[in-house]
Amino acid sequence: MAEIVPEIQARRARRAMSFRPIAEDVIERLVGAAVLAPSCSNNQPWRFVVVADPARLEALKEALSRGNAWARRSPCIVVAVTDRTFDCMLSDRRDYALFDVGLAVQNIVLQGTREGLIAHAIAGFTPELVKQVLGIPAEHLVITLVILGYPGDEAALSEKQRITEHEERTRKPLSEVRMRDRWEGGA
Ligand SMILES: Cc1cc2nc3c(=O)[nH]c(=O)nc-3n(C[C@H](O)[C@H](O)[C@H](O)COP(=O)(O)O)c2cc1C
Repeated sequence: MAEIVPEIQARRARRAMSFRPIAEDVIERLVGAAVLAPSCSNNQPWRFVVVADPARLEALKEALSRGNAWARRSPCIVVAVTDRTFDCMLSDRRDYALFDVGLAVQNIVLQGTREGLIAHAIAGFTPELVKQVLGIPAEHLVITLVILGYPGDEAALSEKQRITEHEERTRKPLSEVRMRDRWEGGA
């Protein structure tokens, strides 16, 4: 029977991680999956900085927001970088760099899920500090940090995060987001 792709169904933005390192071949597959994503005119606007060196990783973690203290357990963080000039810039504000990087990041997340990892993209970090630690040019855009790690204990989670970890996912009802044959509901 047709079904939703199992990794899409299984993926969650979980936070309880172990310190267990991630093998190099696994990392290679994650990045390999990322670059298979489609992009406007095949511009491939993504750049990924894979950070696993312990000293560099520690420095990078200083950029995490307080709410993302759970990510301090991660043995490897993939930093997704782009620039609007790396991709199509069309009329009506259609700059495709972020869109295409999002497609590539989701490939990392789904491949990570397949590999038994938590792969959790976050926005809660200080981009200037990330750039400084990794030597990323100031004019580029650090759009997300993909926090990677094998499932582990909940020690680093806040009370609220511990509850979320076991909750069903919440989504708007389809009736609110899906329209048929025309735009419905005004502005
Ligand atoms: C762009 C983006 C930014 C996010 N930023 C954070 C973050 O800073 N910290 C965090 O714990 N989760 C973050 N999340 C995870 C979301 O909170 C999570 O995906 C959402 O609550 C839905 O839960 P689910 O992914 O388990 O279905 C982010 C997700 C996305 C896509």
